[in-house]
Amino acid sequence: MTTGTQIRPLRPSDYEIVIAIIDEWWGGRHMADMLPRLFFEHFSDTSFAVEQDGSLVGFLVGFLSQSRPAEAYIHFVGVHPEHRGQRLGQRMYEGFFNVARIHGRTIVRAVTSPVNTGSIAFHARMGFLVESGQAARDGVQIAPGYDGAGQDRVRFVKYLPESRSEPLISSPNT
Ligand SMILES: CC(C)(COP(=O)(O)OP(=O)(O)OC[C@H]1O[C@@H](n2cnc3c(N)ncnc32)[C@H](O)[C@@H]1OP(=O)(O)O)[C@@H](O)C(=O)NCCC(=O)NCCS
Repeated sequence: MTTGTQIRPLRPSDYEIVIAIIDEWWGGRHMADMLPRLFFEHFSDTSFAVEQDGSLVGFLVGFLSQSRPAEAYIHFVGVHPEHRGQRLGQRMYEGFFNVARIHGRTIVRAVTSPVNTGSIAFHARMGFLVESGQAARDGVQIAPGYDGAGQDRVRFVKYLPESRSEPLISSPNT
């Protein structure tokens, strides 16, 4: 990462900044409605911003599942187009995996749109598997209508390695 780059927790005050740039970062797709302010207010412990020289150049919104105690979920990740390919997405994912592990989570899920081939490639590189769906498009399994009529999704899952339960240094008395 360039000097002056830092990853920090996402804050409620980041909402206006992210919502102003999100559609542009997604290549003109309308995404803003999928990221309401509540995510910035209620999930800041498991969400990150990347700042470079004081400007927000990346963000990740994720959370620990309330209803599935082994699971965590990444809802959104975005990196400024001019800052892609510098492992900022990877750094944020690794940060999220660490937080998830600390909270005892061993499964991370995410979904993306089948048109988002960059996201599919990125998730594959981050170690996610594509869950089987009822259809396939361009060789990728999809869940038709997963998020409503016409809203097909590719569903990802990643199994985190279990954290060590044995002591790092074993005592001769045990
Ligand atoms: C997807 C995204 C977050 C990746 O961020 P990034 O910082 O550029 O990714 P990184 O530099 O950390 O890349 C990590 C790995 O993923 C690969 N990767 C990332 N984007 C890729 C793409 N578009 N196509 C193919 N591979 C890609 C990299 O080549 C790298 O692989 P390597 O280990 O073999 O070198 C970024 O492209 C983005 O913001 N896209 C628009 C928003 C979006 O679609 N978000 C995901 C859905 S919510």
